[in-house]
Amino acid sequence: MDLGLRGKVTLVTASSRGIGKGIARVMLQEGARVMLFARNADELKAAASELSRETGGDVAYVQGDLTNRDDVMRLIDETRKVMGSIDILIYNTGPPKPGLFSDLTFEDWDYAVKLLLLSAVWLTKGVVGDMVKRGWGRLIYVTSLTLRQPISNLVLSNTIRLSLAGLVKSLAGEYGPRGITANGVMQGFIMTDRTRALAEDESRRRGVPVETVLRDMARDIPVGRYGNPEEVGYLVAFLASDKASYINGSMILIDGGLVRCLP
Ligand SMILES: NC(=O)c1ccc[n+]([C@@H]2O[C@H](COP(=O)([O-])OP(=O)(O)OC[C@H]3O[C@@H](n4cnc5c(N)ncnc54)[C@H](OP(=O)(O)O)[C@@H]3O)[C@@H](O)[C@H]2O)c1
Repeated sequence: MDLGLRGKVTLVTASSRGIGKGIARVMLQEGARVMLFARNADELKAAASELSRETGGDVAYVQGDLTNRDDVMRLIDETRKVMGSIDILIYNTGPPKPGLFSDLTFEDWDYAVKLLLLSAVWLTKGVVGDMVKRGWGRLIYVTSLTLRQPISNLVLSNTIRLSLAGLVKSLAGEYGPRGITANGVMQGFIMTDRTRALAEDESRRRGVPVETVLRDMARDIPVGRYGNPEEVGYLVAFLASDKASYINGSMILIDGGLVRCLP
């Protein structure tokens, strides 16, 4: 199936490694032109050259911090300058600090609201005007399975990310009539640096080796393994395509069957 993504200007945030990089890889394989964004310039440079070498695609990067509104606006300006108007926004973030409610300070909450909610608002405001002018656009928000099933030591994620479901529904209603769809992805356990860090955190809490924690986490996943970042990318690429033009305002789980509740 040709997804028709060739030449589409695509912004993928938090994309120098992990899920964001996996999504960028798939979009490049589909012929989209991809702008990467993260804080560490060396990692970004390495990711961009690896992805360009591997896919032969058009990939560039801007260094900056999602929690800084000026950085986010500079990212949008730079992308327009280098690649033209943005067709597809794929919003992914850095992971919030893990912790129980009692572990978290007011500063942790302030930072996490910028990271997990306000950055989505800034980016959407920055890109949606051009999409409206062209009568076509895709807004895709990569969140977490914590929207469906809270995880005890991820209180920031459990609480703040829920707003993204409200944002997606609101955008779907407001911009659907103008050719723009808005959807969210709720991924389960995907094997990345973040997963390893969470397993290390849990292993310290429980006083057991990291390998035991990883094995225990995978045992609850019906397909019996972690996902990989490209598997999230395949879903996102489909949502970004014209083939998915009737999917609007949906929050889609990709978790190997881990969440047991009904929709
Ligand atoms: N992996 C999973 O199983 C899983 C499951 C559910 C939800 N999630 C969520 O999915 C997202 C991605 O997870 P991941 O596993 O891919 O994480 P990861 O491997 O740690 O990658 C995080 C990416 O985000 C960038 N980043 C972090 N903070 C940033 C900031 N303030 N501004 C801009 N870029 C930033 C990082 O680069 P720099 O550090 O250089 O900025 C890196 O490119 C996270 O929000 C995570 O909580 C992950």
